[in-house]
Amino acid sequence: QGSSERPNGSCWGLYGLNTDFFIFISFKKLTLPFGCVCFYPVHIFPAYFSLEITHTHYKPATTTLKNILHTFHCLTMAKYKLDVTTGDMDFAGTWDYVFLTLIGANGESERTELSNFGLNFQSGTTGTYTITTPLSLGRILLIKVEKDPNIILPENEWYFSKVVVTTPEGDVILFPCFRWMNSGEVVELRGGRAMKIFEDDHPILSEHRKNELMQRKNIYGYEIKEKGIPYFTNFRDITEIPGDIRLSKSKIDEMMDTKRWIGLELGLKGLFGSPKKWESFEDMTKIFWRKKTQISEYVTEHWREDAFYGSQYLNGVNPGVMVRCSELPPNFPVTDEMVKPFLEEGTTLKEEMEKGNIFLSDKKIMDRIPTRSYEGKPIPVTPGLCLFYLNPQRNLMPIAIQLYQEPSEKNPIFLPSDSETDWLLAKMFFKNADFNHHQAIYHLMSTHFLAEVYNIATMRCLPVIHPIFKLLIPHFRYIIYTNVKGRNSLFSPTGPLSISSLGYDGLMELMRRGLNELKYSNLIVPENITERGLDSIPNFYYRDDGLKLWDIINRFVRKMVEYYYPSDDVVTKDVELQDWIGEIFKYGFLSKKETGVPDSFNTVEEVIKFITMIIFYSSGQHAAVNNGQFDYLSWVPNGSLLLVKSPPHTKGQSTERDILESVPNVGDTVSFVGMAWMLSLVYKDFVPLGTFPEERFDEPTPKQFMKEFHRELILLTDTIDARNALLDVPYYYLNPNQIENSITI
Ligand SMILES: [Fe+2]
Repeated sequence: QGSSERPNGSCWGLYGLNTDFFIFISFKKLTLPFGCVCFYPVHIFPAYFSLEITHTHYKPATTTLKNILHTFHCLTMAKYKLDVTTGDMDFAGTWDYVFLTLIGANGESERTELSNFGLNFQSGTTGTYTITTPLSLGRILLIKVEKDPNIILPENEWYFSKVVVTTPEGDVILFPCFRWMNSGEVVELRGGRAMKIFEDDHPILSEHRKNELMQRKNIYGYEIKEKGIPYFTNFRDITEIPGDIRLSKSKIDEMMDTKRWIGLELGLKGLFGSPKKWESFEDMTKIFWRKKTQISEYVTEHWREDAFYGSQYLNGVNPGVMVRCSELPPNFPVTDEMVKPFLEEGTTLKEEMEKGNIFLSDKKIMDRIPTRSYEGKPIPVTPGLCLFYLNPQRNLMPIAIQLYQEPSEKNPIFLPSDSETDWLLAKMFFKNADFNHHQAIYHLMSTHFLAEVYNIATMRCLPVIHPIFKLLIPHFRYIIYTNVKGRNSLFSPTGPLSISSLGYDGLMELMRRGLNELKYSNLIVPENITERGLDSIPNFYYRDDGLKLWDIINRFVRKMVEYYYPSDDVVTKDVELQDWIGEIFKYGFLSKKETGVPDSFNTVEEVIKFITMIIFYSSGQHAAVNNGQFDYLSWVPNGSLLLVKSPPHTKGQSTERDILESVPNVGDTVSFVGMAWMLSLVYKDFVPLGTFPEERFDEPTPKQFMKEFHRELILLTDTIDARNALLDVPYYYLNPNQIENSITI
């Protein structure tokens, strides 16, 4: 704890202190006969001295001068044990030089190279190192880690996971890092308990906190690429993305390999880029030799069936649109006579609406939306309306489809009793609008783009030691990389999204309209289900699993948030948290008060609700709208982002050939199917929801909450597995063991 004045005649004075007593030692220089110079203690308070010696198992009766000196050296030098962990992904290790400096309340250690005999910092290993200081540094506030290039070997990045420091006082402190480090980089880490800004009790910590956020605000920014939709990150290319959020090289390699395999297979078959039209449905089954799923095969066999068509609006990739219908929209004049053959005998449409058996999907948001040109003409996208009937067999059957908003002779209401191809074409065009709607609003904007804003705000407003940073950061892994990469590939001029019916401009316009209509309650799953009147519709597995999952996430978030925010007061005075939600409101929801999204937090409940939403949308919701894309989109007649022919305007004119001419040509088809494959893959570094390989919390209580969260998710997995075993078409997108912690694809 400090040093005394040096006593007269001695060369050094030390003053060791613990809670009960102190030892005072001074040393005199002693020249030994063989020429060595030593120092020996000359002034000891014997009682206290013997107490200390006992503690170190020193036996005074048999000692020598050398032993005395060694013992005093041990007593007075402070030893810090460092367990340094390197990430376990491929290429995580480094042969560069790593230096570490301990910064304590009472001083700093030397900048010390961490090096043991043999290899250091190999992938998936923990190396133990020691730093010794003349005196205890007191409470360890920060550690500084530097990586210098190896002068012989070429530079390689290091995935630095964490350091656990054991102090001479016996404290064990976790310093999480979990990021890639380049040569010449310096990181300063805080360790120990999560702290809010007003809890920092040392000027070094306050200064570090301020500088950390200042630096991050210089690196992470928002950029308007398109007006009216959430802001994007300022990184325009993946090479600009900093080490704390970069993708692992092993994942990049794996993605490239998959892409190469897909390209190779399609290239060998001469399908890639082919402008030919499909000659038969049989030909489409040969796109891939080896990629099939249980559901994709079911889709190929059952895509024409009405009951299966209806079920996809509940349990397919876009379960968020359909609503219970208690009154027909005035522009959708479906009559009893039209639908009587499809309702239960003796009932009417009105009666069925009153019973709650009629449902509607309305694409008015897509009315007059700009679409891309194809062969010199705008591609038709149909802002249709589709009416569904929940029949006594508990199947949701489509019973009427009008492809445009304004009823007219050239916009007839198609019925299941029309010719097979008329009805199939009506269903296909309505589904085409639904899939464009799904990609723009429910997949890209609501999960990918908003999660990007949540991530940027977190990097800019919350320091690493903040409890909400620690809670949320696992749910943002790779999101910025994924979005930057996705915008540069899927939206490139030949990318699958650019060649969709809406194309880049139409998809952006649809997002704009979607954000204009968005309400906070749309994002809150229990409220959303109730508002859409879907509380009791049977066989709605997205709802069944989604509500259970929401509840589990919500209870976990409640425990974590209440632990760090025991009262509303604590929430209101956390200025960093207030800045964070302020940025999300401004850059994610474009300061639209009418959305009902909070621009500040006044209560603990508000924080719990918002963070539950973020975790659900970054994990489960993304899985629900993303993971089934190969299952449901790889068979393009079932659902295609692009239909190139005009939809039917009159009845009785169509043939099977119209269907084959409506679907994309061979080259465009394989581009969509390849995208669906890429986006539905599970990669090797998949981190399931509820697992936290990055240890960021140092306190036992939150760690216990995380274990409880994981246990509850396992139970939900068991329930879903048991249910799915009884289904022809299982619903596994919200099964926790298939949900990733974050949006990584
Ligand atoms: Fe996605």
